[in-house]
Amino acid sequence: MAPIRVLFICLGNICRSPTAEGVFTKLVEDSGLSERIHVDSAGTGDWHVGDPPDRRARAEAARRGIDISGLRGRQVARSDFDTFHYVLAMDQSNYRDLSRLCPTAHRGKLHLCLDFASDADEREVPDPYYGGDDGFAHVYDLVEDAARGLLQRIRQEHGL
Ligand code: 4NP
Repeated sequence: MAPIRVLFICLGNICRSPTAEGVFTKLVEDSGLSERIHVDSAGTGDWHVGDPPDRRARAEAARRGIDISGLRGRQVARSDFDTFHYVLAMDQSNYRDLSRLCPTAHRGKLHLCLDFASDADEREVPDPYYGGDDGFAHVYDLVEDAARGLLQRIRQEHGL
């Protein structure tokens, strides 16, 4: 059976979305669903294409027990909406950019990442790039919570 494909998107693809990719990949692996669910991330911008995740994102991930150092930045493409089934934007600005890129037929694939979080009040994963290390811990907490909700939703929608 063809895998279900999940794509996390932020601005640079070096802080938030690679963190989300790492967290969700670990959750999928721990659930024994690696053959069924494939995970990727990308940025709306192209400044960090080919770059590893930000040192602070790598450090926070390592502190929580996951290794995201092998990931490399790439820019999202219109064709990603053909390939992927769930496209998760980290903030409203990413969401607006993706709305413009997304073919009309695939609009249902686009969500805010925190639509799947347990706390309905927080809608955006804040950009931690220009802040301190605590911003990266907060990003991790938010995406970890949303990742659990997203996996639950995918399992329901696909009978997994
Ligand atoms: P991200 O953070 O979107 O979570 O990867 C950023 C990384 C780099 C830049 C902005 C945000 N930048 O302007 O280079």
